[in-house]
Amino acid sequence: MLPQWIIEKKRDGAELDTREIRDFIAGYTDGSIPDYQMSALAMAIYFNGMNARETADLTAAMMESGKVIDPNRIPGTKVDKHSTGGIGDKISIPLAPLAASCGATVPMISGRGLGITGGTLDKLESIPGYRVGLNESEFFRTLETCGCSMIGQTAEIAPADKKLYALRDVTATVPSIPLIVSSIMSKKLAEGIDALVLDVKCGSGAFMKNIADARLLAQGLVDTGTAMGKKVTALITDMNQPLGRTVGNALEIRESFDILNGQGPEDSQGLTIELASRMLAVAGIGAPGSVAEVHDLGGGVSDPALHAMVESKLRDGSALSTFREMVACHGGNLDARLPAAEKQIPLPSSKSGYVAKADAEAIGRASLLLGAGRAKTTDTIDPAVGISDLKKIGEPVEEGEPLCIIHSNGHEDEMQLSQLLESAFEVSPDPVEPPPLVLEVIHS
Ligand code: URA
Repeated sequence: MLPQWIIEKKRDGAELDTREIRDFIAGYTDGSIPDYQMSALAMAIYFNGMNARETADLTAAMMESGKVIDPNRIPGTKVDKHSTGGIGDKISIPLAPLAASCGATVPMISGRGLGITGGTLDKLESIPGYRVGLNESEFFRTLETCGCSMIGQTAEIAPADKKLYALRDVTATVPSIPLIVSSIMSKKLAEGIDALVLDVKCGSGAFMKNIADARLLAQGLVDTGTAMGKKVTALITDMNQPLGRTVGNALEIRESFDILNGQGPEDSQGLTIELASRMLAVAGIGAPGSVAEVHDLGGGVSDPALHAMVESKLRDGSALSTFREMVACHGGNLDARLPAAEKQIPLPSSKSGYVAKADAEAIGRASLLLGAGRAKTTDTIDPAVGISDLKKIGEPVEEGEPLCIIHSNGHEDEMQLSQLLESAFEVSPDPVEPPPLVLEVIHS
């Protein structure tokens, strides 16, 4: 079938069959189908959508455009977590070693930050010496040694997605559920995992700004993973305020240490424990022994026995020692000093009251301005800068008390920064109820 016939079919709202989708993606990957025909198909998908079967076929075609890790080469039950990205979302860093210390194997392929959302790889690279680009045998050896490894996407993983994502970026076809689902899932499922937990962020600092869109994306991700034979759970979590109390690469590594020591901020600590329990549940890893007192973050609680096991691995130091082992396997040196900014400037509250707003998008933009993120893929980041000691919605604050601390190396436009941060916070004279963190949970 000629590519233009496939484009025509989708343009007219018809369903594409498995063969048509596979041939089109194979042709695009080997270059026999040019960018202009792929752009036309992406736009037809943008307007007419795809059903669950078509989305699963597109995901499989993109996954098979490159290397798919042979699950038999990795020991144990393989499970991963993917977040759609938000401000201050450092959860993957404590989560992978925590789940590994409970018996899961976590082969995590992560991304870099772009725009206001940070990337796990950039955060890890603020640890002196940490290499995200392990070769295949180093990756497998790390998984065998400590049960987790956090690396970057290689050129061999889902090359069709790499090409198509760049094309979607310049053809206004990024915000399409089947295209987003197939892009995310083709990369994740190429890791050779058995099960996956998805954290779909929803709010001002996220890709999905409202619950209806977040629900559509979460359901699409769960349906596609399930259709491809994986166990999948998706959590929709709040991203109207940053997660935890830090935004910025080295600052978020410090908070990750606090979480691994069981002393992180209530929200980032709680979400790490909740996601670890969900990972173990979806991977079918059971917990012996007692039942924990579980703090409900808003979406109902997962298995209390799994919570107890996860918390015990934080308390007895095993999660932290797994993290140390993983960093050592990646060449990182945790005894070296993390990068620190020259200046620490408090942002005082102009009145006493309760924090009513700590807007994730504005705080994300402020950290981009400081140099913690990239406006375009070729930009370099400053690992030391960012924002710490963030007050959370609902917390009391006195006049003059800092709402946050700015970590600066002096390269930003100070006026723009202070306007952004002043617009980010609101303080109310009346008590404010902290918002729930987990909004919904969707299972396979
Ligand atoms: N992240 C991805 O990997 N792909 C998308 O299309 C959107 C977010």
